[in-house]
Amino acid sequence: MPLDEPAALAEGSSRLPNLEFALTGSTADFLTQASPDLLSKARAFEQWESTRLAHGLLPFGRSLQSPPQAHTTLREQDGRDLSGLNFSSQDYLSLSSHPAVQEAARETLGRFGVHSAGSCVLAGNVGDGLALEQALAEFLGLPQVLLFPTGWAAGFGVIKGLVRPDDHVVIDVLAHNCLQEGARAATRHVHLHRHLDVAHARRLLARIRRSDSRNGILLVSEGCFSMDADSPDLAALQALAHEFQALLVVDVAHDLGALGPGGQGQIGLQGLQGQIDVVIGAFSKTFASNGGFVAGRSRALKEYLRYYAATATFSNALSPLQIAVIHQSLKIVRSVEGEWRREQLMQTVQALRLALTQQGLTVLGQASPIVPVLLGEERWARLAVREMGQRHLLANLVEFPAVPRHSARLRMQAMSSHTPAQGRQAAATVAQALADVRPLAAQTPSVA
Ligand SMILES: Cc1ncc(COP(=O)(O)O)c(C=O)c1O
Repeated sequence: MPLDEPAALAEGSSRLPNLEFALTGSTADFLTQASPDLLSKARAFEQWESTRLAHGLLPFGRSLQSPPQAHTTLREQDGRDLSGLNFSSQDYLSLSSHPAVQEAARETLGRFGVHSAGSCVLAGNVGDGLALEQALAEFLGLPQVLLFPTGWAAGFGVIKGLVRPDDHVVIDVLAHNCLQEGARAATRHVHLHRHLDVAHARRLLARIRRSDSRNGILLVSEGCFSMDADSPDLAALQALAHEFQALLVVDVAHDLGALGPGGQGQIGLQGLQGQIDVVIGAFSKTFASNGGFVAGRSRALKEYLRYYAATATFSNALSPLQIAVIHQSLKIVRSVEGEWRREQLMQTVQALRLALTQQGLTVLGQASPIVPVLLGEERWARLAVREMGQRHLLANLVEFPAVPRHSARLRMQAMSSHTPAQGRQAAATVAQALADVRPLAAQTPSVA
């Protein structure tokens, strides 16, 4: 545990960066130490983080030096550049570099400038934003849509806005941070159900309703889980919500636009367009922009959230440029070209998943732009991802507490600009990197 290493933590210590220190611990270790000095935990964290950086074991906080395309360059926090095959960006249909999307941004720049200067409850809406809400409503088959400044803000704001302290949230244990944080901020009555386990969710709902018929229940899940690339049975969840007088919210950040017929995501794949109570999403994956939304059937839901979802009410509305990018991206998502881009994406995903599996690796979930490769122990995963970078493969490491302990993973994200050959090349690099760090396992017994 990093905090048990006083020498390594001592301010100004001249000790050489300690490899063991960099291979162990997690961000969760720096959350709860009591101290009258609020920054003491930040200093402890910074020491651990810089030790990891010094060993090349910190694949976080990197910055793009070129667009998020199939090849790119990432700059580490210490200024070193890593260039290579890029499976670390989430521009799933590669629309950020699409000429029509860029032209839409330029055209809007001329008409509106760059900024909306107000929240959506004041004067921050622009006419184009209202047109985007209508286009999304038609796309989703849900007539009422409200835009949010980010996808995170949509998830947090919708839950915190709807749920009172006496209400309940029943939520998949692996749901995204914005949903978990929103639930915890709203109520003490947060009930975690086992991942994708509808029967467990049912038991929780039944137990709540046995003792509480007065308060509301929000049932929360995702279309495609961002760490596991798997999906719940949405029809079963919606039926549960009806049975127990709960409201279902599904976050479709990763699948909307990138998967399913017409880009309808998991909701479309499961034949449920327009049938989920409340849908929230993010534009930052497939729609080439920051931003998020909530969609539902009633105007009451939309208007209530405009005033009671603090992340919309008290935050600046999307800029006209972001709106133009999202709207043009939506047009492409819905077009024949969109189908073609999804097909390209899926070919790479299938090739990558197959090649990784043939290398004997465990690939989680189902075919989606997210391809999670289970690595296991955190120390092993950190060494492996460093080796991949040296072999010019860029992919994200995800470790505890974002995923359970000892189940660190490589989260590869495919885009339509990748080719299946690049998928196979990436899989070979992953396997070579793992083989290369294996000798370390002999030297360090706790390396798997
Ligand atoms: C399920 C889910 N919801 C919301 C978000 C946040 O979206 P944004 O990054 O656009 O704020 C993410 C981000 O990865 C996500 O995975």
